[in-house]
Amino acid sequence: MSYDATFRVWRGDAEGGDLQSFTVAVNEGEVVLDVIHRLQSTQAGDLAVRWNCKAGKCGSCSAEINGRPRLMCMTRMSTFGEDETVTVTPLRTFPVIRDLVTDVSFNYEQASRIPAFTPKSREEDGNHRMQQVDVERSQEFRKCIECWLCQDTCHVLRDHEGNKAAFSGPRFMIRLAELDMHPLDTVDRRDAAQDDFGLGYCNITKCCSEVCPEGIHLTDNGIIPLKERVVDRKFDPLTWLGSRIGRR
Ligand code: SF4
Ligand code: F3S
Ligand code: FES
Repeated sequence: MSYDATFRVWRGDAEGGDLQSFTVAVNEGEVVLDVIHRLQSTQAGDLAVRWNCKAGKCGSCSAEINGRPRLMCMTRMSTFGEDETVTVTPLRTFPVIRDLVTDVSFNYEQASRIPAFTPKSREEDGNHRMQQVDVERSQEFRKCIECWLCQDTCHVLRDHEGNKAAFSGPRFMIRLAELDMHPLDTVDRRDAAQDDFGLGYCNITKCCSEVCPEGIHLTDNGIIPLKERVVDRKFDPLTWLGSRIGRR
């Protein structure tokens, strides 16, 4: 069954832009990205949109749909009423290049700053060993498809452009958490998490966890444990004593 939907799509570039309205056909079972592609092929041939897998796995098609950060390829049109206007806008936290495509290079810059995984030596039989619970923790964080929806949502970055210089955002807090809690990693990342990547800017609103398409519990399983590890270090009497002696 088909029907005609009203779409409003942001068109423009770094200089500015506006919402344009379209009436476009929708078929049963389609997702928002299908409708955006139909617009491209029938009414707006130069509409810029980034996508790749159409299966929720590449993280390219992130946008804001009726104000909520989502993957366009994973948002079914049946989510909306047939007479509901569907508004599609680019990620607000990042600069627009054109139409629905934003410049997300901030995220790749943050990724490149995180010290790499540095494993300890192998055991005598040549193996690394770790507990299943540690494997599962890493696996949860490694489901990240780098869609940047959490980065787009976090108010610390979204509402305060200046914070980008000090806070790397939720995706990188869980990367730091994963590495810091990894039993084979030899680098202590707690001071860096606080001082270089801005862990203290997160006030645990949990909005990042709500929008993650992979269902990663960023706040409960990553950010809060990382904060606890940082606090433990700061208030560990032995660490404190060591730092006092070191200063003499
Ligand atoms: Fe996307 Fe989730 Fe990864 Fe954030 S943590 S970039 S929301 S997949
Ligand atoms: Fe931002 Fe997530 Fe913290 S939304 S404030 S990083 S809990
Ligand atoms: Fe790959 Fe949507 S096109 S996640």
